[in-house]
Amino acid sequence: MIGHRFSAAAETYDRHARPQLALAQSVVSMLPEMYPENILELGAGTGQLTRLVTGRFPEVPIDAVDVAEKMVAHSRAAFAAYPHINWIVGDAQTYWGGDRYPLIVSSAALHWVTDLPATFENIFQSLEPGGTFSLGMMLRGTLRELHELRREIAPEKTPGLTLPSYEETRDALQAAGFKLERRQHAEEEILYDDARTFLRAIHEQGVTGGKVSSGNAPLTRGELSRLVADYQEEFASDGGVVATYETATFLLTK
Ligand SMILES: C[S@@+](CC[C@H](N)C(=O)[O-])C[C@H]1O[C@@H](n2cnc3c(N)ncnc32)[C@H](O)[C@@H]1O
Repeated sequence: MIGHRFSAAAETYDRHARPQLALAQSVVSMLPEMYPENILELGAGTGQLTRLVTGRFPEVPIDAVDVAEKMVAHSRAAFAAYPHINWIVGDAQTYWGGDRYPLIVSSAALHWVTDLPATFENIFQSLEPGGTFSLGMMLRGTLRELHELRREIAPEKTPGLTLPSYEETRDALQAAGFKLERRQHAEEEILYDDARTFLRAIHEQGVTGGKVSSGNAPLTRGELSRLVADYQEEFASDGGVVATYETATFLLTK
């Protein structure tokens, strides 16, 4: 399901991905001076982080894994000029490349997995002893205004699952065996032109519709109109509307 939804979003994602870009930048800026022989990226999507990583380590081979087939096809074509980037369809929860990597990176992707502890254990196995894992995560407070309003407007359609919290993520990383070297936990308000633009942007990013923001039934037309109108009124700011993003970046070693 998630793979399918992100595939649908592959063409439009990059135009609306500012919070994701900021997170990808922080994943790269946290890295210490190093010279990895190869790199694994999990949840590579349209390659925002991949582009930054290949800028930082020119020509170092990257295995860029994503669960959405169409997303991988799109990025393989978009990055045709970078033959050292190997685009692979795979699930971060179980992916095994056949060898261990000295550097693994991931940004704005692993909050989607159904079993975070198992995913971190799998990543730990894929990392060389002494290797580095730089991880950017979207956390529970992300889009809290939208979730609050949805609960008010259609309580019976509240999504059953939520994004992982900061503490859950940190604890699962440590339980998997990683050593926490550095971390950065941030909350940021992003300004959108209006409520309609905001909802379109997060839909096109592939943020809506997944386990977190879609309930057991879609909103009716009437509920959706109320959502737009109430969002516009309640979260107006500086001539637009705001949406909160809670993120964390972790620099980890094995
Ligand atoms: C919001 S995009 C972020 C992409 C990119 N890392 C960035 O920073 O812009 C999330 C990506 O994670 C992928 N994804 C979600 N669950 C995954 C999983 N279990 N394994 C691999 N990729 C996954 C989606 O298909 C999507 O392309």
